[in-house]
Order: sequence, then C-alpha cells, then structure tokens
Amino acid sequence: MSPRSWLYLAIAAALHLASVSAFLIPSFVGPERAKEAFIQWKLVPDILSSFNPIFTLGATWHFDGHKVQAELGKLVPRADTANRPTWTIPDISPKYANKTFVVAMVDPDDPTPQNPNISQIRHFLGGGFKLQRQTLVNTTAALSEYFQPTPPNGSDPHRYTFLLYEQSPEFPTSVPASLRLFNISAFAEQYKLGPPLAGNFVHIAANKTTNSTS
Ligand SMILES: *[C@@H]1O[C@H](CO)[C@@H](O)[C@H](O)[C@H]1NC(C)=O
Ligand SMILES: *[C@@H]1O[C@H](CO)[C@@H](O)[C@H](O)[C@H]1NC(C)=O
Ligand SMILES: *[C@@H]1O[C@H](CO)[C@@H](O)[C@H](O)[C@H]1NC(C)=O
Ligand SMILES: *[C@@H]1O[C@H](CO)[C@@H](O)[C@H](O)[C@H]1NC(C)=O
Ligand SMILES: *[C@@H]1O[C@H](CO)[C@@H](O)[C@H](O)[C@H]1NC(C)=O
Ligand SMILES: *[C@@H]1O[C@H](CO)[C@@H](O)[C@H](O)[C@H]1NC(C)=O
Repeated sequence: MSPRSWLYLAIAAALHLASVSAFLIPSFVGPERAKEAFIQWKLVPDILSSFNPIFTLGATWHFDGHKVQAELGKLVPRADTANRPTWTIPDISPKYANKTFVVAMVDPDDPTPQNPNISQIRHFLGGGFKLQRQTLVNTTAALSEYFQPTPPNGSDPHRYTFLLYEQSPEFPTSVPASLRLFNISAFAEQYKLGPPLAGNFVHIAANKTTNSTS
C-alpha cells in the first residue's frame, strides 16, 4: 500500500477505536465537558469562582430496581432520588488512586433560582471516601447525611451539584446542623481542601401544580 493508504487506514482505525470506547463507557463525560457545562449553567460563579477539574465524577441513583445517572445538567425525576447516589471516578490516575476524598452535594437554587435566598442547601457532605475499583466507598460516617432534593411547588428546576475534593488533615468532625446558607467554597477554603478535583450536576424539577404562576 502507498503511504497515503496507510494513513487513511490508521485514521479509520483510530476513529473506530474512539467510537467503540465511547460506546463501552457511556457514563464517561470527561473533565473538559464538566468544566464547560459548569460555566454554561453558571455554577461558575454561583458556587465556584473557577473550576478546573482533572477527573470525571459519576453519580448514580439506584431506586426500585433501576438506576439513573447524572449527566451534566440532565433532568432527573425527583422520585428516583430517594436514596443517596453512588459516586464513581472512572478516570482516576494512579497518583490519586489511594487518596481519601470528600464528596459534597449542594443546591444553589433554593427556594427558587430567581431568589435563592436560603442557598446553598447542603444535601450531602462526607469525608473518608476511598476508591474500590472506580467506586467511592465511605469509611467514616457523613458529616451531613443525604437529604433528598425537594424543590418547592412552582419553582423552576434546581441545579443539584456534586463536587469532589481531596481530604485534608484539617477536615472537621462536625458541621453546624442547619443545611441552609451553606457555602461549599468557603468550607473548602476554611478546611484547606484545595480546588475541586471533579464535579457533576443534575436538574430536578418541582411537582407539577395547576395553580402555579411560574
Ligand atoms: C496504592 O495502593 C496499592 C495497594 O495497596 C499499591 O499497590 C500502590 O502502589 C499504591 N499506589 C500509590 C501511588 O501509592
Ligand atoms: C426569601 O425571599 C422570600 C420571597 O421574597 C421571602 O418570603 C422569604 O422570607 C425570604 N427568606 C429569607 C430567609 O430571607
Ligand atoms: C457509610 O455511610 C453510610 C450511610 O451514610 C453509613 O450508614 C455507614 O455507617 C458509613 N460507613 C462507615 C464505615 O462509617
Ligand atoms: C411532590 O410529590 C411527592 C409525591 O407525589 C411528595 O412526596 C412531595 O412532598 C411533593 N413535593 C413537594 C415540594 O410538595
Ligand atoms: C462563598 O465563599 C466564597 C469564598 O470564601 C466567597 O468568595 C463568596 O462570596 C461566598 N458566597 C456567598 C454567597 O456568600
Ligand atoms: C405540591 O404539589 C403536590 C402535588 O401537586 C401536593 O401533593 C403537595 O401538597 C404540594 N406541596 C406544597 C408544599 O404545597
């Protein structure tokens, strides 16, 4: 074959490989896409002043025999979110594989995205997460147990946001009980967590009401 034919063959093989791996790991979205989505949906600056993730954070709710995955803003039915999701890092690097991680879930849109005057709501905060294969397994109790998303009637969908940090020695053993007016950036700063390593988010809508005006 001519050198040009070899080149075409190599390109075709590379494209085939890319499409096959995309098919095999559909939940793998990549940190670059997460960064773009956080900017597009204004989680930068609403939650973070900047976001430069290096890994992908997967979040999967298991409910009633089926599962729902977080996919950068996808609308998820509230009914499927009763249980704490399982978090994964599908693209972890060897350097981070043995680290201890913190997972946070916050809502910056409560009670409504237009007037989020009790936000952020802390929906989950826990440290002591270790990786088993690609799944984050908690080795300690959460600081703030999972609280199911419940956007009030009439509200537009809220952005429920997951963030992954490396745990610091300063990480506290308790947090104030109130879930309201939380600030994950201030928390990360206070306890020296560094920048978030990965993130993901979903939209969850309120129940439909007939007398809603918005
Ligand atoms: C992580 O832990 C495994 C098993 O204990 C070990 O084989 C590996 O070398 C460790 N990796 C790093 C980067 O410390
Ligand atoms: C938030 O704003 C709403 C609507 O203006 C108001 O009714 C409510 O009292 C405010 N809540 C707080 C905690 O400021
Ligand atoms: C992990 O979290 C679950 C649910 O929050 C809790 O019941 C369990 O005790 C935690 N595991 C450890 C080892 O603390
Ligand atoms: C939405 O509906 C579910 C069940 O239909 C109910 O449990 C939940 O409390 C409702 N949410 C609100 C905000 O009223
Ligand atoms: C949250 O904390 C960050 C970092 O301390 C700060 O820059 C930001 O203004 C705070 N956000 C709110 C709404 O208070
Ligand atoms: C919200 O709407 C649902 C169904 O339409 C109703 O069952 C529920 O009581 C409402 N909740 C509030 C807080 O008004």
